[in-house]
Amino acid sequence: MKRVYLHPVPVRIWHWIHALGILLLVLTGFQLRFADHLHWISFRTAVVVHAWIGILVSLDFLLWLGYYLGTGKIRVYLPRAYDLLKGAWKQARYYAYGIFVGEENPFHPEPENKFNALQKMTYLAIMGLLVPLQVITGILLLNTGKFAGIIEALGGLKVVDAVHVVLFYVFAAFIIAHFYLASLGPTFWSHFKAMITGWEEEPEEG
Ligand code: HEM
Repeated sequence: MKRVYLHPVPVRIWHWIHALGILLLVLTGFQLRFADHLHWISFRTAVVVHAWIGILVSLDFLLWLGYYLGTGKIRVYLPRAYDLLKGAWKQARYYAYGIFVGEENPFHPEPENKFNALQKMTYLAIMGLLVPLQVITGILLLNTGKFAGIIEALGGLKVVDAVHVVLFYVFAAFIIAHFYLASLGPTFWSHFKAMITGWEEEPEEG
């Protein structure tokens, strides 16, 4: 077994706050969206918990941004020319076929290149576009009076709310797909363990 140090401490702290935070946001989001049918907690409690956790996740996003921009390690999120076609195809083929017939994962993570082509594209879209959009629309919805001018300029409350709700469904679906894909390491738990200890265990090549 080869051991590679993939996730430094700030990344692990950021990730688990983010994971728990988004999970709670999705659950309270369901309560808010389907208040007539669900009675997990009161509507008022759901509003307050959703708002405070939203603020926590937004601050946590700044931790991710500060760390990755500050260290220049944001490069690990940027797909290279190879990733866009060949890398993405190889990885998709592995997930759709190779894994079921016992083929070796074509990608081997290194600290400077820790994501496969599909992870780079997905994580970049999530962290570079969707989380910021969700944070911005969430902040606007937090005080619709104060931000009335900006909301109007963006097309009105319905548009801002629709973006926030569509992204809520995207995150709910992402968590499920992310959990499944994260379980496809050398063993079921290896990627989860790596996100806790920082160290990924990889079978020797060849
Ligand atoms: C129950 C919830 C979650 C679990 C169990 C989980 C698990 C994991 C694991 C095991 C990894 C490392 C393997 C890999 O690189 O794919 C990882 C990485 C990552 N996860 Fe999650 N995750 C969860 C929620 C989330 C959420 C809600 C987001 C974002 C909306 C997210 C975004 C990411 C990103 C961007 C990475 C790469 C982190 C980096 O190294 O910079 N995860 N996750």
